Amino acid sequence: MELDTPSLLLDRVASDRNIAKMADYFRDRPAKLRPHFKNHKCIQLAKRQLQAGSTVGMTCAKLGEAEVLVDHGFADILIANQVVGRDKVERLAQLATRARLAVAVDHLEQAKALADAAVRQDAVFGVLVEIDIGMGRCGIQPGSTAVELVQRILELPGIRFAGLHAYEGHLVNVLDRAQRTQQAIEAMHQALQTREMLTTLGIPVPCISGCSSATYNSTGSLIGIDEVQAGTYVTMDRQYHRLVPEFEIALSVLARVISRPSIDKAVLDVGVKGVGSEFGVPGVRDFPDVQIPLFLAEEHVVVHQVPDWKIGDRFHLIPSHACTTCNLYRELVVHEHGVVVDVWPIEASGRLW
Ligand SMILES: Cc1ncc(COP(=O)(O)O)c(C=O)c1O
Repeated sequence: MELDTPSLLLDRVASDRNIAKMADYFRDRPAKLRPHFKNHKCIQLAKRQLQAGSTVGMTCAKLGEAEVLVDHGFADILIANQVVGRDKVERLAQLATRARLAVAVDHLEQAKALADAAVRQDAVFGVLVEIDIGMGRCGIQPGSTAVELVQRILELPGIRFAGLHAYEGHLVNVLDRAQRTQQAIEAMHQALQTREMLTTLGIPVPCISGCSSATYNSTGSLIGIDEVQAGTYVTMDRQYHRLVPEFEIALSVLARVISRPSIDKAVLDVGVKGVGSEFGVPGVRDFPDVQIPLFLAEEHVVVHQVPDWKIGDRFHLIPSHACTTCNLYRELVVHEHGVVVDVWPIEASGRLW
């Protein structure tokens, strides 16, 4: 039977190779992987990551993702994000009675809410204090400000101080690898210095967690970094392939030509509702020269300078951003050398809450 379009496809052989390559890299290194589930949100892939070894658990961005992981038997989870709101914190405490759970905080308010819920539900939270090492997203300032927050957190019941969370996300897209390495290492030194200050005060810092698929072999191999939250290396995408070409693109969106309005133009049946495009337009696999204008419609991609494409022909789009693309689908059609072998649910698709 012909695959319908649009469909999200995964090349299992390529993704398994990516998973193995990353696991092998960390096999004999002090840091271990805590793969970021937000990349694919698919339990089968997460299981393959854990089975490949060199991992200590999973990272998520959202409580809803963590719930899916715990429901499928995952035992050690970091929510590398702030969880705020009474109902959410109660859900979090519930979850903490079922799995080893850690969550990021960057303010005493969040930590107090966690402590209250932990006491109410007889749970224990691991807490990582998130420091801003330059990204300008969440995170308290490194150094003495962070030390002060850690000291206050240590006074709270129901909380286990689990370490520092430091993500150098402002540097992962630096194309020049040497420059990326140097800048990312400089940024990460702020986390190492903050740990130093804490240990000098007699406060052990069990872990520094951060890094990405684009910095796994720079900050990820720094002495003192314990966990690497790489995610996209599993599926890869167009943007990441420019950054770490040693990993293969395993993800594609199968799309079909639905119109040929002129000789040099074809229209495909997928737009921003089926392919994440914040990092640019998708590419067309095997056709590096065709051009896609910057604007994608909701349900259409217009392709220029097409060769001999006909209405009904199908092509593989390579998303510029895998994580937002996977979140748009409910299942991954798994193939090996072009032959469909399985369909894996994307259990945490749409789990934004
Ligand atoms: C907190 C956090 N850690 C790690 C990552 C790295 O993930 P990836 O390897 O997909 O870039 C991200 C990416 O957004 C992130 O937000």
